[in-house]
Amino acid sequence: MNSDDFMDVLRTCCSREQYDALYRESVEDPQNFWAKVAREFHWEEPWKSNVLAFNFNVDNGKVDVSWFAGGKTNMAWNCIERNIQNGCGEQTAFIWEGNNLGEEGKKTYLELQADVNRLANWLKSAGVKKNDAVIIYLPMIMELPVAMLACARIGAVHSVVFAGFSSEALAQRLLGCKAKVVLTCSAVMRGSKHINLKGVVDEACDFAAAKDHAVDHCLCFINARLNSDNHLTQSRDKHWQNEVDQLPRDCETEWMDAEDPLFMLYTSGSTGSPKGVLHTTGGYMIYAGATCASVFNMRQGDVFWCTADCGWITGHTYLTYGPLLNGATSIVFEGVPNYPDAGRCWNIIDKYKVKTFYTAPTALRALQRYGDDFVKAYKRSSLKILGTVGEPINPEAWQWYFNVVGEGRCPVMDTWWQTETGGHMITPLPLAIEQKPGSATLPFFGVEPVLLNENGVELLDEAEGYLCFKTPWPSMFRTLFADHQRYEESYFSMFKGYYFSGDGAKRDADGYYWITGRVDDVMNVSGHRIGTAEVESALVTHAECVEAAVVGIDHPIKGQSIYAFVTLRESCELTNSTRKALVDCVRAMIGPFAAPDTIQRAPALPKTRSGKIMRRILRKIASREEESLGDTSTLADPTVVDTLVELRDK
Ligand code: PRX
Repeated sequence: MNSDDFMDVLRTCCSREQYDALYRESVEDPQNFWAKVAREFHWEEPWKSNVLAFNFNVDNGKVDVSWFAGGKTNMAWNCIERNIQNGCGEQTAFIWEGNNLGEEGKKTYLELQADVNRLANWLKSAGVKKNDAVIIYLPMIMELPVAMLACARIGAVHSVVFAGFSSEALAQRLLGCKAKVVLTCSAVMRGSKHINLKGVVDEACDFAAAKDHAVDHCLCFINARLNSDNHLTQSRDKHWQNEVDQLPRDCETEWMDAEDPLFMLYTSGSTGSPKGVLHTTGGYMIYAGATCASVFNMRQGDVFWCTADCGWITGHTYLTYGPLLNGATSIVFEGVPNYPDAGRCWNIIDKYKVKTFYTAPTALRALQRYGDDFVKAYKRSSLKILGTVGEPINPEAWQWYFNVVGEGRCPVMDTWWQTETGGHMITPLPLAIEQKPGSATLPFFGVEPVLLNENGVELLDEAEGYLCFKTPWPSMFRTLFADHQRYEESYFSMFKGYYFSGDGAKRDADGYYWITGRVDDVMNVSGHRIGTAEVESALVTHAECVEAAVVGIDHPIKGQSIYAFVTLRESCELTNSTRKALVDCVRAMIGPFAAPDTIQRAPALPKTRSGKIMRRILRKIASREEESLGDTSTLADPTVVDTLVELRDK
């Protein structure tokens, strides 16, 4: 196949036969396939002869993956200058829709170039160099993707921290990468809530200072829409607009090796503290571009709306990088879907003529509750493709999305992927793969999923097992920041020679994948990934709490809800005020989105004789399914179960 417009071949893959042929090509000769994709982007210097080198097997030495080694490129250049050179300078790159109706803004590719370069120049003047980490703690204003691109321009490694994380969580991330520079904003409104972001940053910097790490510069965007206090009180504080607006609009591009880091993003694991997932430049770039083109049939000038916050991977790959790599117009929405009312999303779709809408099942379930009239009040005639991500979509929500929102004419892309995978892994293609509600369908090009049993044996045909991958894809993460050993232990040790996703899945007779959810101790609450261990550590910071065990249970809107069992000190009672104080510990250590919905007293926890908490049993108790507890003979003290059932409603 001619490689001249290979992205267009992926974009227009329009039959199952074509998908099958391209898929076969991609797994039989991945080097050639991805080289054809990569040639569609700008490389300042070509990669060396080897497109891919890898080792997935811990027994054969270090786990290592490298794509396009030796090639030199730059993400910001490919997102901006490549489009300007193609004549798209005057086209809108970002549309910003504020929290309140009537607040809006636009940036063309040329304007974006100027803003990115000014900020890049500021970063340089603040001493930031190639490979230095920069923390970004911003709400959904255009400065957020601009900040990511400014880092990419000069080869700095951005670490975006979702602006719902607490000061403790922010401090932990700051200390993790020893960032000297933080980019933030004074305050923001989300729905009817006022959030003082700068206050959180100040506290985080103080925490870090107490641990001997000084932040040198905190650049603060002053949100003029809010009457806010004086936020610039520390010597490290700088006024964004005053400092940046006067800087030159040209900035030299730092040409990066394909394997140089682009960003890190913290995510939750089943144990311990959050993990700094590290993505590199070349492979991530081409995969973000290719999946966007193919899964969303994205073309230059398309208006694309991904509702994710840039604080999560979806906002990195499918709000910022992927759309710009395709010359599209991407919407940055500051608000929430039900403010001022539940018609907000459909209003935005009409207002900007959105072609593709990409959101999370939890948002759909929440909106569905308000009734169809909010949807039907708007035309939605521009919509062509719908997408979901973040958690399994239940068939009822899928049907509502497809039939009511999309009026039965827009295919639903149920995209399965992870922070670690960088881009879509199992997903339909709009023109080529027939849908089944609730199934993420088939692997993307170059992706080789396998289902393993507990002994690591590959299961064939119809089966259910651990979802693993046997070969690398370009956008996979290369390591955990400063902890390659944890990378190998968490992802490559359970099944030798495979990347283990942490999810379970079924494959049906047609080869379609149905994700069954996490098989480890990671919860998924409203599409947010939260580790049970993190919530437990937060709970035990309360002086009266000696032990805690947390499980996720089914929730009709949020997908999962957090249920905590707590053991208090002798003579301490679990009063309502203790409950509130415990929830406050979680809000303070992680953020409000991780707050448990239920806290139950547990004089003791069900443990094996070796002291391991049996969460399976706790999950059954919390879900009121104690009839199907299964085998409890391994418990050190089986009477614990009855006590917990008895105390459940007290
Ligand atoms: O359990 C899977 C679920 O979300 C996890 C990844 O979370 P995170 O790294 O935060 O990334 C979310 C956005 C890509 C997965 O291990 N998940 C994600 N997408 C789906 C899903 N579960 C079912 N269906 C999906 N489409």
